[in-house]
Amino acid sequence: MDKLIIRGRARLKGEVDISGSKNAVLPIMAAALLSEEESVIENVPNLWDVQTMVKLLRSLGAKAILESGVLKIKPGNHLKPFAPYKLVKTMRASVCVLGPLLARLGEAEVSLPGGCAIGPRPIDLHLKGLEALSAEIQIDHGYVHAKVTSRLRGTDIYLGGGYGSSVLATGNVMMAAVLAQGRTVVENAACEPEVVDLANFLKKMGAKIQGEGSPRIEIEGVKKLRGVSYRVIPDRIEAGTYMFASAITQGDVLIRKMEPGHLNAVIDKLQQAGVRIEKYKNAVRVKRIGKLRASDVTTLAYPAFPTDLQAQAMALMTITPGISIITEKIYPNRFMHVPELGRMGAKIFLEGPSAIVHGVRKLSGAPVMASDLRASAALVLAALVAEGETEVQRIYHLDRGYEDLEKKLTALGATIRREKE
Ligand code: EPU
Repeated sequence: MDKLIIRGRARLKGEVDISGSKNAVLPIMAAALLSEEESVIENVPNLWDVQTMVKLLRSLGAKAILESGVLKIKPGNHLKPFAPYKLVKTMRASVCVLGPLLARLGEAEVSLPGGCAIGPRPIDLHLKGLEALSAEIQIDHGYVHAKVTSRLRGTDIYLGGGYGSSVLATGNVMMAAVLAQGRTVVENAACEPEVVDLANFLKKMGAKIQGEGSPRIEIEGVKKLRGVSYRVIPDRIEAGTYMFASAITQGDVLIRKMEPGHLNAVIDKLQQAGVRIEKYKNAVRVKRIGKLRASDVTTLAYPAFPTDLQAQAMALMTITPGISIITEKIYPNRFMHVPELGRMGAKIFLEGPSAIVHGVRKLSGAPVMASDLRASAALVLAALVAEGETEVQRIYHLDRGYEDLEKKLTALGATIRREKE
């Protein structure tokens, strides 16, 4: 296992390019299974999660090759409907193959994803949606067994149940409905840019979809889809992470090849916190000149502040004078970074789904443990500003979701190295 050694008191300066979106590309890779023809996906980040999905596609019988950001997927005509525990357990997004396999093969056997460090993550909405499309679903021995006697049938689906909306459930249902017979209307659909990207990919393949990006998506099923070339959107969470990195280090960073319109809530919060933001067409410049101001953040579904930037926002709050409050509405237990930030001198109190952060004058470097992808990013940000050296252990979490993290941070002036634990 690798660890990162980060020297603190960094001041980031320069330019950084954002990679393709992890959470957009994973469902798109599953969607490629909907045609027998080859699809070519561009702007694909080289991440562990992408490699895991490549392995899963291959184990299903598809050809998949990733080279220099270009991923070629050829599903062919001999797909197997089986996604094993060994692959699904390492990455929840594997559950995305359920909809496409069911739509193409009429059956799918996919392992239940199981527990996750950020709290319970059920898949009841995925199953509710697929059942509404006339799939018969059973859960047995830790696997979801789904099958349909003839073709899936379009219908009206309310994709909720008191939890708000779900990104991957919306994706799974959309991927099944594009090949169903007749019309499907999904209400309470997730509106995240990754859902829109998936819909755009499917539309290029020949699917008939309207309303993506709103809570009501209408899909008219078609008989067949074709392979296509497609470029994935930039990763808004990676971009947001570098925005917080610049803010926390009193930096001046131009973040390029991103979509500022995907981060309006984050830009607004950073401005409230006293950080200067200049917006350009595909870039933002984040510069901290004056004092930070305390602020409150509540995570909610898009277009509100994303849960995947909650930990990074908290890192900034730890050194912001006064009291800031974060309320986590998507995953109420997503606070594993709190005790680790505490080891670096942060003063944070948990009250149910809220964290009350008392700003301290400085953090100090310490050995800390990464627990999930975004918590790890928060520890790296805290390390950049802390006094002395921080050792972030178990950084395989970071390798799941941040392409070239050390390289990009080093180019911005950070002192950071990777060592074997
Ligand atoms: N939920 C249910 N039932 C379901 C599905 C979800 O109750 O069947 C609830 C969850 O418990 C949670 C909420 O709905 O409270 C949102 O979960 P969602 O299903 O949207 O999460 P997801 O689609 O599995 C994606 C991202 C996550 C991100 C969330 C929220 C991918 C691969 N993952 O997960 O990303 O946090 O949406 O925006 O797209 C990450 O990148 O670090 C990450 C965890």
